[in-house]
Amino acid sequence: MSSVLVAYATVYGSTKEVAEKVAQTLAEKGHDVTVSAAGDAKSVQGYDGVVVGTALYFFRAHKDFRKFFPRHRTELQSTPVAVFGLGPFEDKDEDFEGARGHLMKTVDKNAWLEPVAVEVFGGAFDPEGLRFPHSNPAMKSMPASDIRDWDAIAAWAESLPSAMGLP
Ligand SMILES: Cc1cc2nc3c(=O)[nH]c(=O)nc-3n(C[C@H](O)[C@H](O)[C@H](O)COP(=O)(O)O)c2cc1C
Repeated sequence: MSSVLVAYATVYGSTKEVAEKVAQTLAEKGHDVTVSAAGDAKSVQGYDGVVVGTALYFFRAHKDFRKFFPRHRTELQSTPVAVFGLGPFEDKDEDFEGARGHLMKTVDKNAWLEPVAVEVFGGAFDPEGLRFPHSNPAMKSMPASDIRDWDAIAAWAESLPSAMGLP
């Protein structure tokens, strides 16, 4: 049995729920899965694969995601890594392409990092739940949305063991 860490960086929780879906899908395939907030993962030693997801805010990844790679560089250099970003809350191609570019900024900054898979999923947005510094009138007046595609998330998770070379 392979052991996989699914780490996530979130503000309002929608990325955590996606991480849990990825983890559940991998567990159903027989993998031993641990889910953790990226900032809480003290070590990534001993995992056969690591999945790291981040919410995107203001055109960049969450700081816990950005810090994760330099912090765990030594172990991650010898472990297959997959990354996902959560962001667009409108189903527009240009928003997904932009989000991918913003996710890749962190990947590219870590020149040693070669993820076996990179994916962007639609996000969730609830103006009622916004807290400072996001709770400004412009953001509060936007409509609620949740375009997380659970089938696409499960399909991506199912593709990971093979991409990671796991049995
Ligand atoms: C203030 C604010 C800024 C955001 N900026 C971006 C962005 O630059 N790119 C993007 O793709 N999504 C952006 N989003 C959408 C979030 O990434 C999306 O709502 C995501 O699901 C939030 O994840 P979380 O619930 O895990 O924090 C933004 C959302 C808020 C509230």
